[in-house]
Amino acid sequence: MTVEPLIGDVIGELLRDTLAVATGVGPRPLVGGRLPRPVIEIIERDDGLINGAPAAHYLDGPAEWQPYDHRAVDRAHGETLDIGTGAGRIALLLQERGVPVTGLDTSAGALEVSRRRGVRRLVHGTVDTHVADGAQYDTFLLLGNNLGLFEGRERAPEFLAALAALARPGAQIIAQGTDPYGTRDPLHTGYHERNRRRGRLGGQLRLRLRYRELSTEWFDYLVCSADEFASLVHGTGWRLTDVDHRDAPYYLATLRLAD
Ligand SMILES: C[S@@+](CC[C@H](N)C(=O)[O-])C[C@H]1O[C@@H](n2cnc3c(N)ncnc32)[C@H](O)[C@@H]1O
Repeated sequence: MTVEPLIGDVIGELLRDTLAVATGVGPRPLVGGRLPRPVIEIIERDDGLINGAPAAHYLDGPAEWQPYDHRAVDRAHGETLDIGTGAGRIALLLQERGVPVTGLDTSAGALEVSRRRGVRRLVHGTVDTHVADGAQYDTFLLLGNNLGLFEGRERAPEFLAALAALARPGAQIIAQGTDPYGTRDPLHTGYHERNRRRGRLGGQLRLRLRYRELSTEWFDYLVCSADEFASLVHGTGWRLTDVDHRDAPYYLATLRLAD
């Protein structure tokens, strides 16, 4: 009998183990019961593609970051919400700079890791559930490719409406995305075509994450061009005011709440 993976807190478990491997403190995966085993995040796509990505980068300090992460953090001001904070790498630097920052995440384990690393203000939930808390922000950050949380055409306006409900006048969103269309790999170009045939955006990925015996549910994660992103924002209460392409294919999109 084949056992299906358990649905669980994949990100939380892998960040806990990544922290244990990095610090040498606490139970951690070992090779042969002795040597630390690198923690790998397994990403499955709904066409059968599987990728493994070392999870250590979630703990990276500013010296290891990409230039666009620094430019994003430099633009944060006022009350800041770090959406999908992960292990809190962005929130930690903002805190150090005296910027009032809250880390938001759906993963209880990620929040525990962020707390242990020193992030002081953390919220468990989504932007939608956080609206009920009555908090208000000047800056929303979606870094580490978290423009993906816009998911696609259906979810994007809901996501932006929740952010508008959490926004102070003049608030900004800074989201880091990746243009997926530079590839010539038929595995990816074929996937983009298949998505479009189904009425989805080409880079609207259907994914699940795996770690050890755990899996997430399948979810949509948006990897789109800046033009596609502009079309998702059009007609909402937000305006796309800047796209920083200096590190193409990675980009930073800045949105402001329309007056
Ligand atoms: C790709 S990681 C990015 C982590 C962090 N921003 C960074 O740059 O290191 C995505 C994070 O978003 C969280 N997440 C996923 N869906 C979410 C949602 N709907 N609302 C808030 N956080 C979410 C995950 O648990 C994970 O910690």
